[in-house]
Amino acid sequence: MAMKFRKIGVLTSGGDAPGMNAAVRAVARGALSRGVEVMGIYGGYRGMVDDDMIELTSSEVSNKIALGGTMLYTDRCLEFKEESGMQKAIATLKKHEIDGIVAIGGDGTFRGATDLSLRGIPTIGLPGTIDNDITASDNTIGFDTAMQTVLENVDRLRDTCESHARCNIVEVMGRGAGDIALNTAIASGAVDAVIPEVKFNEDACIERILRLRRAGKRSFLIIVSEGVADCSERLAQKITDVTKEISEKENNKALWVEAKFCRLAHVVRGGSPTLADRVLATKMGVRAVEELLAGNSDLVVCEKAGEIVTTGIAYSQALDRMYKGTLKDGMLDKFSEDEIAEMQKTIEEKKKTFAETYKMLCEVAG
Ligand code: F6P
Repeated sequence: MAMKFRKIGVLTSGGDAPGMNAAVRAVARGALSRGVEVMGIYGGYRGMVDDDMIELTSSEVSNKIALGGTMLYTDRCLEFKEESGMQKAIATLKKHEIDGIVAIGGDGTFRGATDLSLRGIPTIGLPGTIDNDITASDNTIGFDTAMQTVLENVDRLRDTCESHARCNIVEVMGRGAGDIALNTAIASGAVDAVIPEVKFNEDACIERILRLRRAGKRSFLIIVSEGVADCSERLAQKITDVTKEISEKENNKALWVEAKFCRLAHVVRGGSPTLADRVLATKMGVRAVEELLAGNSDLVVCEKAGEIVTTGIAYSQALDRMYKGTLKDGMLDKFSEDEIAEMQKTIEEKKKTFAETYKMLCEVAG
């Protein structure tokens, strides 16, 4: 029979993401409504190591759903990675009689969650990251808001590009994942996107820009994922130089496309979460509480085809590694043939979606 939970803890760790507050609120209210007390742990796993936490009453999480950032703050805690730090964290949890943890963050957060689970603290992970790089989940908390923020900023850049007949290369966050870049490229009417998942054809991109310029198009946008190293500034220079050369050769000033570079960086992580992120965070937060109270642990809550589901953290992490091609020997040993085949299928589908979406972007770019 599942153990009786009296008190759980919730934390946010790694990079902050809009919607984390909505998730904290959902965890707190979901637990309180089931008669379980809640502690909010400050600064991710650091708050566990340093005994830095607050009781989350219903009023403590009131009016937080619309706030960006994380009310529990966040940190990347090195001490927690050491066994001594981990033991301090566990002693803190014992002192406060905390029976289980909901950890909101990305893959580093989930590693911490597994470490706690292995030491007897039931822990459930929620994917809270703008990057959308948890392969097991179609969407992560913060991804939708980050895309909306990129779009708002890129729309502004479009205005000034159109006035000056320029190109703007916009670099966006996403770590190794091109999800933000590809989707915002489509939504902003960009002429191209540079993402880690698809090989970029620079010559074809510049040819397209020139063809469209010849047809009278004034402004161009290209969205670059930060996961493609050393690209944005170099590409801006290349477009500027190549089009200048051609404009001089053809004695046609209009063919020169001056390209500017802009890095949106952490701007993309702030701001009030969108409706989609608030709803996703709420569904996932409540589900995490249900899973803990049902006696489950070491799971990550995911969204698959519109449904809220759970998967083992080990499965989710192996899937991410398989997708990134960073699996090490023996990492798949604990999974059945069916599970491995299922992982491969998920990855093939994801890659196919990226390739098709990119192709569509180029088609509609003109
Ligand atoms: O994982 C979220 C993220 O914003 C990535 O997109 C980015 O690469 C990284 O975090 C930046 O980290 P930091 O906030 O430590 O600069």
